[in-house]
Amino acid sequence: MLFPVLLFFFLIPALFIGLDAELYYVRNDVVNHYALSFNLLIPSETNNLHFSWHAKSKVEYKLGFQVDNPVAMDMPQANISLQGEVPRMLSVFRVELSCAGRLDSEVTILMQLNLTINSSKNITVLNFKRRKMCYKSKALSFKNSTTVKCYSRTEKGIDPVNAAPTTSTRVFYISVGVCCAVIFLVAIILAVLHLHSMKRIELDDSISDSSSSQGLSQPSTQTTQYLRADTPNNATPVTSKCYPTLRIEKNDLKSVSLMEAKAKVKDIAISRERITLKDVLQEGTFGRIFHGILIEEKDPSKEKQVFIKTVKDQASEVQVTMMLTESCKLRGLHHRNLLPITHVCIEEGEKPMVLLPYMNWGNLKLFLRQCKLVEANNPQAISQQDLVHMAIQIACGMSYLARREVIHKDLAARNCVIDDALQVKITDNALSRDLFPMDYHCLGDNENRPVRWMALESLVNNEFSSASDVWAFGVTLWELMTLGQTPYVDIDPFEMAAYLKDGYRIAQPINCPDELFAVMACCWALDPEERPKFQQLVQCLTEFHAALGAYV
Ligand SMILES: *[C@@H]1O[C@H](CO)[C@@H](O)[C@H](O)[C@H]1NC(C)=O
Ligand SMILES: *[C@@H]1O[C@H](CO)[C@@H](O)[C@H](O)[C@H]1NC(C)=O
Ligand SMILES: *[C@@H]1O[C@H](CO)[C@@H](O)[C@H](O)[C@H]1NC(C)=O
Ligand SMILES: *[C@@H]1O[C@H](CO)[C@@H](O)[C@H](O)[C@H]1NC(C)=O
Ligand SMILES: *[C@@H]1O[C@H](CO)[C@@H](O)[C@H](O)[C@H]1NC(C)=O
Repeated sequence: MLFPVLLFFFLIPALFIGLDAELYYVRNDVVNHYALSFNLLIPSETNNLHFSWHAKSKVEYKLGFQVDNPVAMDMPQANISLQGEVPRMLSVFRVELSCAGRLDSEVTILMQLNLTINSSKNITVLNFKRRKMCYKSKALSFKNSTTVKCYSRTEKGIDPVNAAPTTSTRVFYISVGVCCAVIFLVAIILAVLHLHSMKRIELDDSISDSSSSQGLSQPSTQTTQYLRADTPNNATPVTSKCYPTLRIEKNDLKSVSLMEAKAKVKDIAISRERITLKDVLQEGTFGRIFHGILIEEKDPSKEKQVFIKTVKDQASEVQVTMMLTESCKLRGLHHRNLLPITHVCIEEGEKPMVLLPYMNWGNLKLFLRQCKLVEANNPQAISQQDLVHMAIQIACGMSYLARREVIHKDLAARNCVIDDALQVKITDNALSRDLFPMDYHCLGDNENRPVRWMALESLVNNEFSSASDVWAFGVTLWELMTLGQTPYVDIDPFEMAAYLKDGYRIAQPINCPDELFAVMACCWALDPEERPKFQQLVQCLTEFHAALGAYV
């Protein structure tokens, strides 16, 4: 073994989320500088952190600590010596962070680990930052009664020390009204360098020493770009070459002909005379959404505003069939946060039209992007509380779908609509592939899919469930908090599955509270069983929303 294989990670006891997560700092000689850049907040009742590590060959270490407020916190103690050799077996060490109880204060703790490989002169410095809220001892005795819990599940595998909180207090969390305390594993790697390359650089040194050890010894100078360990910086995404055409989805839409699709909606068909088309709201290559007016059948003096989805002349029969079939996804469901199809118009010689009730602010994704533009001038345009309220409504609608055992399969901001009362409704994805072509990709199988919103099991095995809808909800929540940005924008769609498998996820948006990001992160658990249910999400977000209202 020429190169040491170094593994170093931190077990995050995400008690509130009910999941354990491992945050890798060094894996297979790759330093995860992004993970190192986190300044994780430790729940105030957690007094011990556990780190796991091992090395395949000789690596020496030096360990040191700093705290920025020694009055509030004693110097951290580790149960390993401050200098020695990284064990060859996977081992755990503990770092004790005890508040002194003399002061109410947030303390920043720095743990520094200097690694030396093969007794060379070069050291790799790893800096771990943590924050912890410390309180005066007096407070400990009477403020420990309530915690806001998202939901409980079996706290399997959680370290007993962390699972049984000591007598410190949860005031901080309560005051923010927070559900989820610890950030779950995240990540985008920022800049990584194999120790392998170190060797190569060493060899190159005789030629040029200016290239020496970029990155490894200077973790702090990395920029925040998505970067995978093994993806060249300038790799251009492979452009998918399938049409935005909507191959019919295997299981449910297979071999439906236009005739059949029309037959299925005959009972909600209305005559063309009752419809007046007004403005075009959105337009794709073959599809269009109009704002329109529908005249009541019984009383022609009464009008109703509607969305009208329709196709242009060049649309193929497959595209028309697809529009009709997909429009029926939510048909017959009644819930205040769902927007199902109400009517169709399928008269001979006319392009078919699909009618949905009108929501005057239109598509949620476009609305969010609009907000982002406005936000530059007016930061108060839309509040975080409003965004959380939207998320709650989406979760409510999805919870209803889950109870009815309807799987949406394409939940995203683009498939929601909003009105001036900030009421949000989930709708079907008919025409979305055409209107938001950047959000769909086909991975060589000619099936155009919302890859960046899909759970791993859906990507890999074509398995869909309410749990995969929960995943998409997490991404939708992220879209809300970023005002309509595209998730995983720098990741090649072909790489998504591998990327997710490796444990990477979308980064925490700027200005997104840790608690909310923790909610998203739980939606992206690899195991579908471990993801929260929509009902739990509604509850959790509602509590968070209330807390924002109380403290903002
Ligand atoms: C680690 O290395 C840096 C830079 O050489 C040094 O300043 C620091 O004191 C070292 N830390 C420990 C814990 O030895
Ligand atoms: C340090 O503590 C952890 C957990 O408390 C334990 O698993 C580990 O064996 C201890 N290490 C040493 C060197 O005592
Ligand atoms: C590490 O040290 C061993 C002997 O101690 C030596 O054989 C080996 O070449 C060294 N490896 C590197 C990468 O310097
Ligand atoms: C706080 O916790 C202590 C020890 O766990 C317990 O004895 C005490 O009753 C608790 N106080 C409140 C207000 O719940
Ligand atoms: C190791 O340190 C030596 C001397 O300090 C330097 O010349 C060399 O470039 C370093 N090698 C690496 C891989 O950083």
